[in-house]
Amino acid sequence: MASVFPRWSNTAFRIAIAAVLLGGAAAVAAPMIYVRTDWNTGRNRPVQQPVQFDHRHHVQDDAIDCRFCHSTVERAGTAGMPSTTLCMGCHSQIWNQSPKLEVVRNSFYSNTPIAWNRVTDVPDFVYFNHAIHVNKGVGCVTCHGRVDQMPDVRKVSPMTMGWCLDCHRAPERHLRPPSAVVDMEWDAGPDAERIGRQVARELGVRRLVHCSACHR
Ligand code: HEC
Ligand code: HEC
Ligand code: HEC
Ligand code: HEC
Ligand code: HEC
Repeated sequence: MASVFPRWSNTAFRIAIAAVLLGGAAAVAAPMIYVRTDWNTGRNRPVQQPVQFDHRHHVQDDAIDCRFCHSTVERAGTAGMPSTTLCMGCHSQIWNQSPKLEVVRNSFYSNTPIAWNRVTDVPDFVYFNHAIHVNKGVGCVTCHGRVDQMPDVRKVSPMTMGWCLDCHRAPERHLRPPSAVVDMEWDAGPDAERIGRQVARELGVRRLVHCSACHR
């Protein structure tokens, strides 16, 4: 008896089923992959700034402490941004004719702060606090990377919930003596684990994984 469907239709049917299954899998997987990409988390993306401020010159060449400019980082939730007056403390004398500092001079004489654009940002429904991290021995470099080597600051950590929790589950792996928090080159070497555990014990570091630690 002649079959109703030609022989090739079997193959066509299998291909169609496979396409539906694969399509379904892709529809589920694609957004899961997407949220983890640098494109979505903004990692390594350059951010336009009103002044081409270069951390390399200021931190490496001139050895200015992070806390000179980000002065609330040890006592407040936010790190704080330097005022124009602080810049002019040096730049009314050094490079005071430089076109690259035009915006800084204008800001100073018109008494309007420079509108720096955010590089690192967590959503408003997340509570973050610098002081607690810095005082419990988490170094700037652990979250922000080698800022002292960046011509323009970029976000190097994904700053997703998974990333925060990864440390919060076992913070002792990432701790250093609080005296070394701004040191970009501090390295405990093979002793890292022992030192981390010691810091955790001395400062009574907790493992904060309950939702209300960060969502309050
Ligand atoms: C403690 C002194 C000091 C402070 C404070 C300071 N700078 Fe500088 N800045 C320097 C020095 C020194 C240089 C030259 C560095 C070099 O070329 O090695 C420089 C260079 C610059 C340049 C490059 C100028 C050019 O023509 O190449 C810019 C832009 C700049 N600073 C912006 C700022 C801003 C914005 C602030 C405030 C947030 C600031 N600086 C605070 C000392 C300072
Ligand atoms: C002379 C002042 C000065 C010093 C010293 C300085 N910074 Fe900055 N920092 C700035 C300015 C101005 C900006 C904003 C422009 C930019 O992003 O480059 C900034 C931006 C940043 C940002 C990005 C902020 C955001 O929006 O997410 C980080 C992170 C940062 N600094 C970390 C550091 C660390 C870590 C150190 C010490 C190793 C340091 N800074 C030293 C002036 C300074
Ligand atoms: C545990 C990770 C972590 C550590 C350690 C850390 N930061 Fe941050 N930093 C962040 C996060 C997250 C933000 C974004 C905060 C927000 O959106 O409210 C941020 C934002 C900033 C900003 C932008 C202004 C602000 O306060 O939001 C600056 C400047 C900055 N950090 C500098 C520093 C410096 C300097 C140190 C070391 C003394 C440091 N940070 C240590 C995670 C960290
Ligand atoms: C490298 C390690 C590390 C990373 C990354 C990190 N944290 Fe923490 N966090 C700590 C440590 C250590 C403490 C101090 C715990 C304690 O109080 O004993 C802390 C404390 C906190 C607290 C204080 C809670 C309270 O009760 O005051 C908040 C809020 C917090 N972290 C939010 C965040 C968020 C949000 C992120 C991600 C954007 C983050 N942390 C990333 C190590 C980390
Ligand atoms: C250590 C800090 C921290 C803790 C603890 C934490 N979260 Fe989050 N959560 C975050 C951060 C940071 C984001 C924002 C992530 C982003 O912007 O990609 C976030 C985002 C979220 C979102 C928005 C959806 C998403 O994935 O972006 C939900 C829902 C959420 N958290 C629920 C929870 C629940 C439920 C718990 C407890 C089991 C919890 N969180 C514990 C830091 C934390």
